[in-house]
Amino acid sequence: MRFSYLCNECNREYKTDEIFYTCPACSGTEKSGEFRKGNVIVKLNDEDLEELRKEKHYPLLELLPYPIPNMGAFPVGPTPLSKPFRLAKKYDLKHLLLKLDNLLPSGSFKDRASQMVAAQAIYHGEKKIALASTGNAGAAMSCAGAAYGLDIVLFVPESAPVNKLMQSILYGATVVPVKGSYDDAFALSLYYTANYGGINRNTAYNPMTVEGKKSVALELFLQLKGDLPDVIYVPVGDGCIYAGVCKGFLDLKRAHLIEKVPQVVCVQSESSAAIAKAWESGIPATVEATTLADSISVSSPANGRMALRYLKETAGWATIVSDEEILAAQDELVRESGTFVEPAAACAWAGMIKDRPKLSDETKVCVLLTGMGFKDMGVYEGRVQMPKAIENSSQAVDERFG
Ligand SMILES: Cc1ncc(COP(=O)(O)O)c(C=O)c1O
Repeated sequence: MRFSYLCNECNREYKTDEIFYTCPACSGTEKSGEFRKGNVIVKLNDEDLEELRKEKHYPLLELLPYPIPNMGAFPVGPTPLSKPFRLAKKYDLKHLLLKLDNLLPSGSFKDRASQMVAAQAIYHGEKKIALASTGNAGAAMSCAGAAYGLDIVLFVPESAPVNKLMQSILYGATVVPVKGSYDDAFALSLYYTANYGGINRNTAYNPMTVEGKKSVALELFLQLKGDLPDVIYVPVGDGCIYAGVCKGFLDLKRAHLIEKVPQVVCVQSESSAAIAKAWESGIPATVEATTLADSISVSSPANGRMALRYLKETAGWATIVSDEEILAAQDELVRESGTFVEPAAACAWAGMIKDRPKLSDETKVCVLLTGMGFKDMGVYEGRVQMPKAIENSSQAVDERFG
């Protein structure tokens, strides 16, 4: 293989050609009430990185662990970078970019991880992938399954937003709603793969999820011709997207393609801020998550410890926002830039607004928008009034506007 696996806790290195999930020495050794231990990091071989440096290959593909099969069938990026001039003026920022990952095929960033796990399955000759999801990861994997002809078995808490569940059903996945939480669905999906086979795609548990997510960093490197942002805002729940963004930049640095890694900011809702609080206190304690931004509502972050590691390695920081600030940010993005995102994605924009006093007007800022607004229309209940229909007559128009 072109890579080995490194435990995030004990740094043991595992070399194997088999599919590998977590460090057998550390997995399950966490204290009750603390973040999970034993997630592994994919470490690309030094010789391959050296080759890459010498030959100046196309880094998007060469820095990924598995070859992406049939890219055109499931076109995951490059997503557009918008330059929202109205917002840039309002916040007095000369260099503001929005990375529109809400425009990926299934409408969320999770397509990046799903593409990589599909590549892993195809490489190993596996036809079936099982996972647990609160919605977006499931829809993304189901979308990739439809594109590549893979069987997807999806365990979801029955409370997941209906649009996200409906999407997975339409893509043809076997959807199993669970009367329980995301953690319960997670445990059942592990039971399923142990007893009925297939690859398990659970976020962070399968290290290829972080590897897939790093493609956004490689893409930014190519789109901006190496002139990367100074600061990148990322919305965080489990910490897997955060880790993927950081890992992409750190791999570019290891390959000597960049000298400096952007600072990556971890933005969380105060009603689900396990990682941000652990960053402040040093104690990786679980919390009770209640945020209305369902995609980042996480009590026990599956990739919390790795996110904390990368906060340090990118000299990043954590910013906490309220749910009210998230909803205001969602409204502002849609009205003042035409960018329609779900609340979890708007969390990143809310973080930027909160941090604005910390930034200079010259700071190159990029905000990662991770999910499409149509995904969760339920959050608009009571916030948007449908206008009443008028009679079909010119008189009714006059009554309305005259
Ligand atoms: C739209 C969106 N944004 C942000 C996140 C947070 O990602 P992570 O749980 O990896 O921190 C998710 C996760 O489901 C998501 O779907």
